[in-house]
Amino acid sequence: MIAAAQAVEHYEITRYGTLLAWAKQRGLSEAEGLIKETLVEEENTDQILSELAEDAINPAAAT
Ligand SMILES: [Fe+2]
Repeated sequence: MIAAAQAVEHYEITRYGTLLAWAKQRGLSEAEGLIKETLVEEENTDQILSELAEDAINPAAAT
């Protein structure tokens, strides 16, 4: 389940990364700020899921 959730996060990170590049190129500073904020949220969620898997779920599943 964590792997599936991370696949979604990774997809979102790629999409927001593209949108951020487009917003920068077009000089859409308000959109750029909102997209960057969302991108950071997605990256943080991905990190939390990695820590959850590595610190708890994967070791428990291996026993
Ligand atoms: Fe997400």
